[in-house]
Amino acid sequence: FHVDMNADETDKGTYPFYMLKEIDEQPNVMRKLAQEYLSDTGKPVISDDLLNDMQEADRLYIVGAGTSYHAGLVGKRLFESMTQKPTEVHISSEFAYEQPILSEKPFFIFLSQSGETADSREVLVNVNSGNYKSLTLTNVQNSTLSREATYTLLLHAGPEIAVASTKAYTAQIALEAILAKALGERDNQIVASNFDIRQQLGLVATGMQALVDEKNVIENIAKDYFLNTPNAFYIGRGLDWTVSLESALKLKEISYVQAEGFASGELKHGTIALIEEGTPVIGIITQKRTAGLTRSNLQETMARGAKTITIVASKLAKPGDTIILPDIDEHLTPLLSVVPAQLLAYYTSLNKGLDVDKPRNLAKSVTVE
Ligand code: AGP
Repeated sequence: FHVDMNADETDKGTYPFYMLKEIDEQPNVMRKLAQEYLSDTGKPVISDDLLNDMQEADRLYIVGAGTSYHAGLVGKRLFESMTQKPTEVHISSEFAYEQPILSEKPFFIFLSQSGETADSREVLVNVNSGNYKSLTLTNVQNSTLSREATYTLLLHAGPEIAVASTKAYTAQIALEAILAKALGERDNQIVASNFDIRQQLGLVATGMQALVDEKNVIENIAKDYFLNTPNAFYIGRGLDWTVSLESALKLKEISYVQAEGFASGELKHGTIALIEEGTPVIGIITQKRTAGLTRSNLQETMARGAKTITIVASKLAKPGDTIILPDIDEHLTPLLSVVPAQLLAYYTSLNKGLDVDKPRNLAKSVTVE
C-alpha cells in the first residue's frame, strides 16, 4: 500500500469541517495500520511479552467510554471468535464504581482516542492497584492511559480534531482484529488461522473508499430522512447491533436528533410503541445468521408507518435495499457499515447549519468524571 501521511494532518485544507476530512482519511488509516502492524507476509507484528501476557489471561476485560466503548463491543466479538478467550466489555464510568467479580487471571484492554478520559483513567488506577496487566489502544502517544498501562499500541490515525470520533473508532476495531488474529494464531485457532488480515484490511480500505465516494447519495438520504425528524432508530443484531449504537451516537451528538441504537429483536418488547408515521428506522444487515430476522423486524416498523433504510452487506442484498456495502469478511463488517452512518450524521448536522466539529455541550476529551 502507498500511504501519504506527509500531508499536514492538523489543517482542514479544503474541507468545511474536520469530521469530513477524518471520515475520508479512514481508508489510509487502514493501510497505515497494515504497514505498522503486519509483516510483508501479512503476519501480525506484536510484542511477544504482550501476547504472552494476553495468552496467560483466562478472561479479557475491555474498558472504554462512548465511541471507544462501542469499538470494544466489536472487539469482544473479534476476540471471542478468533481466540475463544472469554471477553467482557465495560463502560468505564460504570466499571469504576461497580467493578464486576474478576476472573482468576484478568487482562485489561483500554480503548481511548485521547488517552485522557477521566472515567477510563479511574479504572486504570484500580487495575494497577490490583497489579493486573493492561494494554491501552490510543491515538495519543504518552497520554495518561498510555503511560500508566503495562503496554500501549498506537492507532496511527493522525490527529482527530472533530468531537465526533470516526477514524479512531475504525482504527480501534482494525487494531483489535490484528491483536485477535495474532493471539488466535498462537492457539492454533481455526478462524484466526484462516483469517487473512492483510487481505481483509486491503479490502476494507477499498470498500471504505467506495463508500466515501458515494457522499452525494448519502447526503440526499440525510436530507430526506433526518432533517425534520425529532427521532430516529438504528436497529441490528450482534455486530450490527453494536454498530447501531455507534451510528445513533454519531447522529445524536452532532445533529441533536434523538437517535437510538437498538437490538432489533428487542423492539417488540416496548420501544416499537415509539414508532409513528414517518419515523426513520435504519436497519443494519451484514450478518448472514440474523439478516432475515432483522428484515422482519424492519417490516414490523414499516407496518407502523416507519420510513426505513437498509445498510446491507452485498451478499445479503435484496431489491429495494438502500446502501450496499462492498464484500468483506463478516467479522469486519463494522468497519464498512459505520461509514454511511458517519456520513448520514455529518450531512444531517451540516444541512441543519450546525457546528459539526464542535457540537453543543460536548468536549473532545472528557477529562472530568
Ligand atoms: C465519540 O464521538 C464522542 N466524542 C465520545 O463518546 C468519545 O468517544 C468518548 O468521550 C471517549 O473518548 P476517548 O476515546 O478519547 O476515551
